[in-house]
Amino acid sequence: MSFVVAVDGPAGSGKGTVAKLISEKLGFVNIDTGATFRCIALAMIQRNIKKEEEDKIRELLNHIEINMKPDGTILLNGEIVTDRIRENDVNTLVSPISVIKIVRDKLLDVQRKIAEGKNVVMEGRDIGTVVFPDADVKIYLDASPEERAKRRLKQNQEKGIESSYEEVLQNIIDRDKRDSSREIAPLKQADDAIYLDSTKLSIEEVVEKITDIIKVKWNA
Ligand code: DC
Repeated sequence: MSFVVAVDGPAGSGKGTVAKLISEKLGFVNIDTGATFRCIALAMIQRNIKKEEEDKIRELLNHIEINMKPDGTILLNGEIVTDRIRENDVNTLVSPISVIKIVRDKLLDVQRKIAEGKNVVMEGRDIGTVVFPDADVKIYLDASPEERAKRRLKQNQEKGIESSYEEVLQNIIDRDKRDSSREIAPLKQADDAIYLDSTKLSIEEVVEKITDIIKVKWNA
């Protein structure tokens, strides 16, 4: 038996941090589906494949293996890419390639297989709507674009990446638009998802609220 918690939301909503903390607290496996898209983007960069080259992408998808270890290590065809997939070239390519149907079809399969038979907290954009429409708990985590830009700017500063507030805010607005308006599996709240606005909440408060929701469902 497996128990699936789906956490969807836009970039910077805090879902990554929150999903990780909840999994640790409850002993669930944390699955960051954005990382699977990032792995494909990285594999394309490594092989110099452009997003228009569908035949080459199809061939690449036949030979790709993505593994996620319980400690968060991400492996692409056996190579550790945990930090590499957060670099700028991957950031730029990942959203455009996430609209490609063959990429989404392949990753849907990968994501469902990773979760098979486990208790998971899976975070992404379309988990409650497409990947696990029957998830036991569905959360849609949101925050204002301005708050999300502030958080991203802080993360960048901590990593020593130079960026301005205006630049980060514009990037978030553009990404929201692209992720929400794409034809296949757009970023969208599932009808039966619980909406949580984290703009004025601390990470701890969000974790507590979601943990309480999970416990009620788990005990039912
Ligand atoms: O969560 P993230 O920033 O690592 O995600 C990177 C990109 O992957 C994001 O721009 C949209 C895409 N993505 C998606 O389309 N569906 C998911 N379930 C997760 C991510």
